[in-house]
Amino acid sequence: MSTKNDLFLRTARGEAVERPPVWLMRQAGRILPQYRAIRNRLSGFKELVETPELAAEVTIQPVDELNVDAAIIFSDILVIPEAMGLPYEMVEKRGPLFPEVIKSEADVQKLTSGADAAAELQYVYDAVALTRQQLDGRVPLIGFSGAPWTLLAYMVEGSGSKTFSKAKKLLYTDPKLAHQLLEKISETIIAYLKLKVESGAQLVQVFDSWAGILSPAQYREFALPYIKVIAESITDVPVTVFSKGAWFVYKDLGQVDCQVVGLDWNTPPELAREWIGPDKVLQGNLDPCQLYAPPEEVAQAAVAMLDRYGRGHIANLGHGVYPDTPLEGVKAFVNAVRAYRYK
Ligand code: CP3
Repeated sequence: MSTKNDLFLRTARGEAVERPPVWLMRQAGRILPQYRAIRNRLSGFKELVETPELAAEVTIQPVDELNVDAAIIFSDILVIPEAMGLPYEMVEKRGPLFPEVIKSEADVQKLTSGADAAAELQYVYDAVALTRQQLDGRVPLIGFSGAPWTLLAYMVEGSGSKTFSKAKKLLYTDPKLAHQLLEKISETIIAYLKLKVESGAQLVQVFDSWAGILSPAQYREFALPYIKVIAESITDVPVTVFSKGAWFVYKDLGQVDCQVVGLDWNTPPELAREWIGPDKVLQGNLDPCQLYAPPEEVAQAAVAMLDRYGRGHIANLGHGVYPDTPLEGVKAFVNAVRAYRYK
């Protein structure tokens, strides 16, 4: 099946393009009234994630409504801990909660991993295959997973946190156990991403949302080596690494075998380009809060951002779009990028 609008993939592969492609992290979600309508008639978030027909429907909603250049499969990074034996709940208005957490070596040993764990996620592969079929080549489909450190953080902490100090405590008090857990998570991620690609994902993005709370030395010990192995294992499609807040290791990220590096909104693109090097495509990084401004200002900010990046860029926000963002702001951003042309 050929992809009619393949601008996103051509850019990720480093080809010369006429303008940057655009999509938004968390584009499939509460910013869209169509999403809220479906979500409100279900038992909860997990029903949506676990029902391929519904997941496919909400994945395609932003393609219809916003005219973005890529779709991202509707799911969550927390399906992996669940597949490994640590179920999550999504508590309304509060976020994720793990009733059981990892505290000891026995807890880590009990976890399933690799192909056995990945086999638990058939509903995700079905959603990917169905979405590809229904997209019918309109735009490419992105698959994703959390990065090992970010998943460890939830599995040890048990919920969201400002500091993730329980998870960081494990790195300082029992680094050996942390590595055992990271190893098991990584094996699972690799098996999972490969199955997602086999099911039809055309690029995969690894979200290291909590990279920025590690010290540079900790990032190099507990995050980077695992991201490297994952990136090297995915050979059939381009890979994007989004290590939020980890500007301090961009020189190392330049050495990872990925095609795209995602930037958060604190990062000056010029600094990222210098440190990451000329070979990678950069993705990002408008402040999600910029979209609250009047639409004309959003458009101006988008163009100013594109001018700063130049070529080798995928336009996005510096983190997921916030649920209360006005649709006019989102559309002003997307339309400004779509109207842009490289000189
Ligand atoms: O559009 C897309 O980007 C695809 C879907 C997607 C979701 N979660 C859907 C979702 C993606 C790529 C994710 C990734 C994810 N999930 C990350 C990494 C990206 C990031 O934001 O840093 C993280 C840390 C999670 C964990 C998670 N899931 C949290 C902390 C929360 C609660 C916070 C919130 O936004 O409510 C979720 C729930 C979640 N995942 C929602 C959506 C649309 C909202 C749930 C709802 O509809 O009630």
